[in-house]
Amino acid sequence: MLAAHTPEVAMKSFAHRYGPWAVVTGASSGIGEQFARQLAARGLHLIVVARRRARLDALADELRRDHGVEAVSVVADLSAAEAVDSVVGATTGRDVGLLVNGAGFALTGDLLHHPLDAHFKLLDVNTRAPLMLAHRLGPGLLSRGCGGVINVASLAGFLPMPGWANYAASKAYLLSLSEALAYEWRARGVDVLALCPGATATEFANVAGIEHAGMAVEPVVAEALAALGRRDVVVTGGRNRLVAALTRLLPRRRRTAVGAKVVASMRPAA
Ligand SMILES: NC(=O)c1ccc[n+]([C@@H]2O[C@H](COP(=O)([O-])OP(=O)(O)OC[C@H]3O[C@@H](n4cnc5c(N)ncnc54)[C@H](OP(=O)(O)O)[C@@H]3O)[C@@H](O)[C@H]2O)c1
Repeated sequence: MLAAHTPEVAMKSFAHRYGPWAVVTGASSGIGEQFARQLAARGLHLIVVARRRARLDALADELRRDHGVEAVSVVADLSAAEAVDSVVGATTGRDVGLLVNGAGFALTGDLLHHPLDAHFKLLDVNTRAPLMLAHRLGPGLLSRGCGGVINVASLAGFLPMPGWANYAASKAYLLSLSEALAYEWRARGVDVLALCPGATATEFANVAGIEHAGMAVEPVVAEALAALGRRDVVVTGGRNRLVAALTRLLPRRRRTAVGAKVVASMRPAA
């Protein structure tokens, strides 16, 4: 009886439900890379996606060596719609049970500080690619009758954030999409989870041109994997959960002012 609750049994049932293959975008760094590691440790084979080939190939080698799983790199710039074709192409003949949409980035500054093209690219990576991948891989997941999608949204999805206007809006979109999809697909056996981290120690801050002391990436991903199939949304870290709960209580304009302060506090002094 006790054996049913051992870590080995839990890992086998995870692999049975969400394996044998997982697709992870944004796997060359940070949260996506950590998802690839923790999923390989659970025995899943990985298709890892990002732009930086050397990083992906090194990760794939590591996963094969350390966990004995299969791993395939797909170099794709998800700001281009065709890139999704190469990701979907890599799944041919592979039974994919889990999609992790981890790729994403932020543009910091007033809206007009960045050209419109840069804002479109942000939307393409943070919103269009997860939508397209869920739409293209969804039929396979549903026909299996079990599986999952994890969309890496953000605490930024809970409130408008002046200084991060487009980024926060993209995460609000992903959060809403995930919650609705969780509802649509739950009865058909597919679990959808919006992961909403607060500041996390990855390359994100560097890319966004901000400074923050983030939570370690390992517990962020561990919390997400523990929540998959149990929750539709997970905010990682006790402090972040408190922030998310408090922001919900504020009137909308006050919430926006809080969002502005949060971004200002992360911008390096000029
Ligand atoms: N770290 C935080 O504080 C934090 C907080 C809340 C939410 N998030 C979210 O977490 C997700 C992962 O970010 P992270 O913290 O792990 O940051 P990160 O270390 O900078 O990783 C971002 C990943 O996205 C990939 N990526 C970016 N643009 C891409 C593109 N055009 N095509 C394909 N891949 C692309 C990057 O790979 P390449 O550069 O190799 O393409 C990298 O693998 C993002 O969606 C972010 O919004 C992060």
